[in-house]
Amino acid sequence: MFAFKYFTPTKVVFGRDTEKQVADLIREFGGTKVLIHYGGGSVVRSGLLKRVTDALDAAGIAYVTLGGAVPNPRLSLVYEGIELCKREGVDFLLGVGGGSAVDSAKAIGYGVYNGGDVWDFYDYKRKAEGCLPLGVIMTIAATGSEMSDSSVITKEDGLIKRGYSSDFGRPKFAIMNPELTMTLPDYQTACGCTDILMHTMERYFTNGGNMEITDAIAEGLMRTVMANAEILVKDPKDYDARAEVMWAGSLSHNGLTGCGNDGGDWMTHKLEHELGALYDVAHGAGLAAIWGSWARYVYKNCLPRFKRFAVNVMGVEPAGSDEDIALKGIEALEAFFRRIHMPTNLRELGVNATDEDLVTMAHKCAVGVGGAKGSARLLNEADMLAIFRASV
Ligand code: NZQ
Ligand code: ZN
Repeated sequence: MFAFKYFTPTKVVFGRDTEKQVADLIREFGGTKVLIHYGGGSVVRSGLLKRVTDALDAAGIAYVTLGGAVPNPRLSLVYEGIELCKREGVDFLLGVGGGSAVDSAKAIGYGVYNGGDVWDFYDYKRKAEGCLPLGVIMTIAATGSEMSDSSVITKEDGLIKRGYSSDFGRPKFAIMNPELTMTLPDYQTACGCTDILMHTMERYFTNGGNMEITDAIAEGLMRTVMANAEILVKDPKDYDARAEVMWAGSLSHNGLTGCGNDGGDWMTHKLEHELGALYDVAHGAGLAAIWGSWARYVYKNCLPRFKRFAVNVMGVEPAGSDEDIALKGIEALEAFFRRIHMPTNLRELGVNATDEDLVTMAHKCAVGVGGAKGSARLLNEADMLAIFRASV
């Protein structure tokens, strides 16, 4: 077991109608002039944005709005948001929507607080010394950005998708009403469930310092997400299933499922970020498309964990060799992905990658991780390329 720090300062307000508390929560955390930041318009169409602005009007809290955060949110809008905040004297950010709107809001917060070029943080050139305080109202269960320390932004110039992690970026509060996720397209619901699973799996498939309590939480979380993802395929309006998945999303990425281990593997995410940058695919679908190729490439180097996953999470009979059991676990997870209509390779993801593209992505990925990364198996650029080639 490794030593660890567990820091989850976010106040979670969970359940039906919780968005009605938004003005009180902004006040509680000292906001007097708010930037409401949102995505491509789902919150306008659902009426949520209007309910939020009405609540702020009624409470006498001043605000400005900025929409347009796209999936794989772009740096140019972050710059626009920073300028708007400075011009308007904004002292509090409210992200309303999915991980993209929230990550974009976090980036705006870093830019306003620290000055200089905010991309420096994502380019590992500087560390943030703070962030504007941020609250969120989530409309999709997926990234866990509502409690995580991460923000993932794409720089248009060079199509570079990078994450920056800092405790300063953890939201002050997260309003989570599972009903708000019921307007999601089925594909996005499944993408979200995949991302949630993967945030725990990245921390589970390691070669370092595992802890029984962490494993037990992780395995329960993964089984719960899979069971409820299948319920949502049949009945997208099932409130309890929405709630289970939504809370799992937060717990999956707030650090809980990594306590005591070496920090996790994270290579499926790093490989996916290249797919997101180049082809603008949905993050969860990209993860599903690359995971099987990654797993088959690394499982022999992390066999006890793959075996344990197969038996404890996927329900594989513990008969035969460890390798057989591990491979059955990988196949079982891919079968689950198919049942929730997620891709298991690049073709099914709708991506027709040329070999030149694969070479480019492997190179960018290796640069992004500083040469090599991975705990299940340490991967260098040649390994990354082999995995991309196996995933077409
Ligand atoms: O933009 P709008 O119009 O809101 O539509 C969104 C978008 O098209 C739509 N949507 C969201 N809630 C909805 C809804 N449509 C109808 N009804 C609702 N209730 O769904 C689409 C996806 O939204 P997005 O915010 O992009 O999804 P997600 O939450 O999956 O965020 C993905 C981004 O987060 C990054 C990903 O790489 C990607 O850029 N990640 C962030 C992490 C973090 N901050 O901790 C960790 C993750 O590993 C991930 O990398
Ligand atoms: Zn993710």
